[in-house]
Amino acid sequence: MLPDDSHSPIAVFDSGLGGLTVARAIRQALPHESIVYFGDTARLPYGSKSAPTVLRFARQCLRFLMQLQPKLLVVACNTVSATALETLADEFPVPVLGVLQPGARAAVTLARSIAPGGPCRIGLIATEATIASNAYPTAIAHMDHRVHVVGRPCPLLVPLIEEGRSADSPIVRAVLEDYLASFTGLNITAMILGCTHYPIFASAIADVLGPRTQLVDAARQTALEAHGVLDGLRQLRPPGKRGKFTCYVTDQGLRFERLASLFLGHEIGQPTAVAAEMLEAAMVEQA
Ligand code: DGL
Repeated sequence: MLPDDSHSPIAVFDSGLGGLTVARAIRQALPHESIVYFGDTARLPYGSKSAPTVLRFARQCLRFLMQLQPKLLVVACNTVSATALETLADEFPVPVLGVLQPGARAAVTLARSIAPGGPCRIGLIATEATIASNAYPTAIAHMDHRVHVVGRPCPLLVPLIEEGRSADSPIVRAVLEDYLASFTGLNITAMILGCTHYPIFASAIADVLGPRTQLVDAARQTALEAHGVLDGLRQLRPPGKRGKFTCYVTDQGLRFERLASLFLGHEIGQPTAVAAEMLEAAMVEQA
């Protein structure tokens, strides 16, 4: 008989706090599952780094998470999903689910529901690395060639979010108006928030874009796909008590607990700190 992994946790990883928006959706869809979250807060942002560096950091974090014996690794970071997912998926013995394919699928479904017949144009805001990878337009073209993607990097948003700036502060509003002005007049029907941090500013983004542009909910789609993967493997945890939530970070930061609660939608306990140097050293040992 195969070992029963249904009680193992789901591991969720991001460069920082952003992946908590995905962890939140997973908790809503799969409340009995335990989640271990890893935020590489000492080394973010990933979005302005080169693809080899992003791969190296992500590999280190996922190797750390593997020690906790997860049944599924969720890469809740678009930057890693866009630049390194296939390599990582080949390296680990458990399924590795990114956010880009689910995000692209959710975008195409939404776009088709708004414009069922002909071509349509959707927007994409993301980190510089995600935009440069061209991964979203490529994935979407494979799903539906009538959906055209117009992308724009928004590098200031992650630092503003990690700083704890509120969506309705004047500085956030000014930055959003500047970035989103490039979509004016393009008849964008849907907007992909192609960075897991951005849903924290969703209300302000929706307000600046206006009522004719709908936001894509990639986190919910990722949670549904996590459910599908575990169901397919018969590894869903049977209903019972609510699953545990445990958090690891490479830097505790002064605002971490307050912001993490905001991202996740409930209080979290003190996260465990893991030194980035230790992750590097573990790689050298294994090499
Ligand atoms: N949250 C990450 C993403 O979805 C990126 C943030 C960063 O630049 O580190 O792309």
